[in-house]
Amino acid sequence: MLKGTMQRILENSTRVAIKAGTLFAILVLAILLAEGCAEAQSSSPAATPPMGWNTWYAFGCRVTEAEVRAAVDAMAANGMKAAGYEYVNLDDCWQGKRDAKGFIHSNERFPDMKGLAEYVHRRGFKFGIYSSPGPKTCGGYAGSYRHEKQDAETYAKWGVDFVKYDWCSASQVYKPRQLKAAYEKMRKSLLRARRPMVYSLCEYGMEAPWLWGPGVGANLWRTTDDVSNRIDFQEYQRMMFVGFSEAGLERYAGPGHWNNPDMLQIGNRGLNLDEDKTQMSLWSLLAAPLISSTDLARLTPAQLAILTNRDVIAVDQDSLGIEGHRVSQTGPVEVWAKTLSGSRLAVGLFNSGESPLPASVRFSDIGISGAVQARDLWQRKDLGKHRGRFSAEIPKHGVVMIEIQSSGEP
Ligand code: GLA
Repeated sequence: MLKGTMQRILENSTRVAIKAGTLFAILVLAILLAEGCAEAQSSSPAATPPMGWNTWYAFGCRVTEAEVRAAVDAMAANGMKAAGYEYVNLDDCWQGKRDAKGFIHSNERFPDMKGLAEYVHRRGFKFGIYSSPGPKTCGGYAGSYRHEKQDAETYAKWGVDFVKYDWCSASQVYKPRQLKAAYEKMRKSLLRARRPMVYSLCEYGMEAPWLWGPGVGANLWRTTDDVSNRIDFQEYQRMMFVGFSEAGLERYAGPGHWNNPDMLQIGNRGLNLDEDKTQMSLWSLLAAPLISSTDLARLTPAQLAILTNRDVIAVDQDSLGIEGHRVSQTGPVEVWAKTLSGSRLAVGLFNSGESPLPASVRFSDIGISGAVQARDLWQRKDLGKHRGRFSAEIPKHGVVMIEIQSSGEP
């Protein structure tokens, strides 16, 4: 009897234990699933620096829907899409009037925004758009101030995948200490709109966005003012100032959150091919977003080859997402290095001087001992084994960019 009772008690408690165990397992599973979903939802669409094209330095405020469609076609045909350029970003000056309910409409140069987004998507690209937390954009068009929620809903409805949010007139309505909250407000509105959108902050580095950008869900933030003050024209010295200004900021970049020194100027007036290669090299070493901004119809084959150099792009897009750092600076010669996956490193030797100059990098300065295998990423040529250091003559306003890997030999 006692044995029977004990047995029942044991059976019951086992059942209870099994039930509790099952419940516990279900609970654990549910938590894991929920976490998985949350991770899937929050997992960044910018795991590597975003690549694409933007209308601003190509067409400025005159931009039309036809030009955006033509850029899409050009990228699909000229090898840029195959090389990884993915976003087609409409910058300022697309905005029309708000309707009686407050919803924004595009202006007469963009008669069908949803149709444009579909066109972009059908050709395998993603679609980006632009606004400001202020009442007006920098071009004087309607900003999102007091319409953040409505604008985010409209972008989701149109099929937008990327939002650049540009400070512009926001200082008229916000104090500097409210800047972060203004950016947070739009991020929340975008999340509520339930369409994943890359969030690109543009406040010119005023309030050190690298410190708080990730906290407000930013995937990239501009580190300085514009790389050029003029449409379709780049001054070399300004470009170098903007790129090199990232020295010290490398620790803030990583998968999903990138420092952005503004757009690629390759194809625009003012730069020669050495200077084009310099921007492509420096931006890749900086793990910068590679957003071309030029009239693609006018690219020469040589400029296109620079924009689509797979070896250099692979440096930018490396899966570790480690931004490069300045190794040395001697007058106009700077050496920058970026750690890559597979125990490799990319090194750029830059010469901002007005005549060719010798440059060199000591391997011990970039944490390498023993012999290394080197490859020139612009000449696309193996350079054999090097010991101790790598030296080269760098053209005026030029660059030599190499990838190195320890050969395993002392
Ligand atoms: C600011 C931004 C630029 C561009 C223009 C558009 O200057 O920094 O990148 O978006 O506005 O008006």
